[in-house]
Amino acid sequence: MGICIFINVPYSYSQDNKLQSFTPKELWADNNGVHINAHGGGVLFDNGKYYWFGEHKIAGPKGNRAHVGVHCYSSTDLYNWKDEGIALSVAPEGSGSDIEKGCILERPKVVYNEKTNKYVMWFHLELKGQGYKAARSGVAVSDNVIGPYTFIRSGRPNPGIWPMNVTEEEKKSIDMSDKKAPLRVLNKYIETGQMARDMTIFVDDDQKAYHIYASEENGTTQIAELTDDYLSHTGKYVRVFPKRYMEAAAVFKRNGKYYFIGSDCTGWKPNAARSAVASSIWGPWEELGNPCRGKDSNITFEGQSTYVLKVQHGRPDSYIFMADVWRPDNAIDGRYIWLPITFKNDKPIIQWKKEWNF
Ligand code: GAL
Repeated sequence: MGICIFINVPYSYSQDNKLQSFTPKELWADNNGVHINAHGGGVLFDNGKYYWFGEHKIAGPKGNRAHVGVHCYSSTDLYNWKDEGIALSVAPEGSGSDIEKGCILERPKVVYNEKTNKYVMWFHLELKGQGYKAARSGVAVSDNVIGPYTFIRSGRPNPGIWPMNVTEEEKKSIDMSDKKAPLRVLNKYIETGQMARDMTIFVDDDQKAYHIYASEENGTTQIAELTDDYLSHTGKYVRVFPKRYMEAAAVFKRNGKYYFIGSDCTGWKPNAARSAVASSIWGPWEELGNPCRGKDSNITFEGQSTYVLKVQHGRPDSYIFMADVWRPDNAIDGRYIWLPITFKNDKPIIQWKKEWNF
């Protein structure tokens, strides 16, 4: 098969030969023979190399909290990954920092800013000891792709600003008695900024970047433009998929169309993936249903989306769907599902494969 032999020692096994295929859901050894630790991740292609950033998890039931930080790996072929260490470290316990050890720091995404020559990392942040109440986004910056990244701030997007696509009529008709109604939640947080949990960053061909996140108690997705330096929000944003409870957003562009792949909202438990298309990032977004096919396609093959990677090394029109298989009782054992995306009448299709390569 041309892949390494998985022996029965968890998270550490020998990799004598180079990997030549993807084996979704199996342990995935880095250059040191250690299972890759980059969950809820994303990939940046920079100067001929891919960089995979993700949540560093630890063993045991509390392993989903941020004890270490954001881990980075590099690769030229996407099969074999070199451990580049911790790109963003959590702050020491007792420091009072927003990213103090023990906080929840999820779904980090790194993009490169051509204007400032800086690498910018955004992530979902929950303050230590507050569960998922804070619903903030954090931002960090570095001169080097692998870090170290310096934490700048965390907060909620766009305080004091209404989304572009809420009408005066809608504002007047908000039902304040329905506590869970997304529009009420939107209204409630106008002054303090919008709730932001699961998130991704998308950079368009014109280098404009967008922050796409689950908002309004996860009821609605918001798409917010970032400033030219990618470090803040411009105030331009829309709400899309109202009441659809979309999570785990991954956004990409193909042939001038914008695609969204995400999930339903069931915590660590897998559910059916969703997809959507739009001809403008601002929408309207048309839902295209579950893109998954094959065994366990109704539960995203036991995974949840995290990113769609456009392949850059000589394979035109190749996109890889990246998902996480969460293991909440032993977070470090979380697995990865990477599968090719094909297109049927411009609709994305993700077919289960036990093993595959280019
Ligand atoms: C998932 C979400 C994960 C994590 C988890 C916590 O739905 O996508 O990133 O937040 O919930 O239960």
